[in-house]
Amino acid sequence: MGVVAFLSAKGAPGTTTTALLMAALWPAPVLLVDADPEGGDIALRLRREDGEAVDRSRGLLSLLPLARREMQPATLPEHAQTLRGGTEAIAGLSGPEQAGAAGHLWSNLAEAFARTADRDVLLDCGRVAPRSVHLPLLQQADVVVCLVRPTVSSIVHTRERLAALVPSLVAGDGHRPRMGVVIVAERPGGRDATGAAEVLERDLPGVEVFGRLALDVDGASIFEGFEIPRPERTLLVRSGRQLVIDLHAALRHEQRGAGPVPVGQPSPAAPSPAVGAAGVDPASEQSVGSGPAKSGGRRAAPRRRPFSRAGREPAVAAELEAESR
Ligand SMILES: Nc1ncnc2c1ncn2[C@@H]1O[C@H](COP(=O)(O)OP(=O)(O)OP(=O)(O)O)[C@@H](O)[C@H]1O
Ligand SMILES: [Mg+2]
Repeated sequence: MGVVAFLSAKGAPGTTTTALLMAALWPAPVLLVDADPEGGDIALRLRREDGEAVDRSRGLLSLLPLARREMQPATLPEHAQTLRGGTEAIAGLSGPEQAGAAGHLWSNLAEAFARTADRDVLLDCGRVAPRSVHLPLLQQADVVVCLVRPTVSSIVHTRERLAALVPSLVAGDGHRPRMGVVIVAERPGGRDATGAAEVLERDLPGVEVFGRLALDVDGASIFEGFEIPRPERTLLVRSGRQLVIDLHAALRHEQRGAGPVPVGQPSPAAPSPAVGAAGVDPASEQSVGSGPAKSGGRRAAPRRRPFSRAGREPAVAAELEAESR
């Protein structure tokens, strides 16, 4: 089906949390991969559905040696474990030592993800730079999502990192993943989030704003392994419902080669997702994995969004103007 890679430039804007949230809400069969070369967090935060700790020796660590030869995508689920709430996840490596030792195997692994036919693959790629060892994962992805907070430092680092990263993601055949940002903000509809969106769209041609997520400590604690009442009512999960629709629609359009469609609108292709996260009660009427079937091939032209500017200058944009002077 398709591959969506989540990353950040710097800091900890919520990449792992967002990847877990999206996997829990994804309206189609999905496999979550903890591919952060700095060391996987998912196995340390969440327990398996059977209550046991996630086995860290079964995951990328058991999968990468098999990538020495061409790997069949059917192998992947054998290395996954079911997290509490139902998400199928491949546990991450222990840290940069293991990630660096994997060398060219990242390319073979990326190929296997891209050829997976029976489920979408969501990758938590952690912090990424043009020289990152796991860059092939992003080059082979259909959609790349960078998490950012609406602070001057997060926006500036994201702007610089993505500007450097975009050329590195163009493959030999000219393919480039569809790229965008998701803004994690205390007030997702507020001035700062709007300002961040405008600055990034203005300064990064071809990088779009996929959506916004609520900064919500209660909601995020679910993905730290805490149990809370009515998790589906948290701001984080509620804001995630729109984002998952937009990302899923972006992925399907990218694969159809139909070119990107504007995000931020309900898509007829993506049903209202269920909540089935780690620790999140499946309170929805639909089950995870009941989404639409796969569409055709991948590889569409990159999107070039014209620069748009609001009538009034948002606070964060004004700070950025001052910073760049
Ligand atoms: N939407 C959110 N609202 C509130 N807190 C959040 C949100 N997303 C993440 N957090 C919190 O921020 C911290 C960092 O989150 P997370 O680990 O997801 O970030 P990250 O980008 O994956 O970091 P790293 O680059 O270190 O892997 C965690 O304590 C997490 O609970
Ligand atoms: Mg992380």
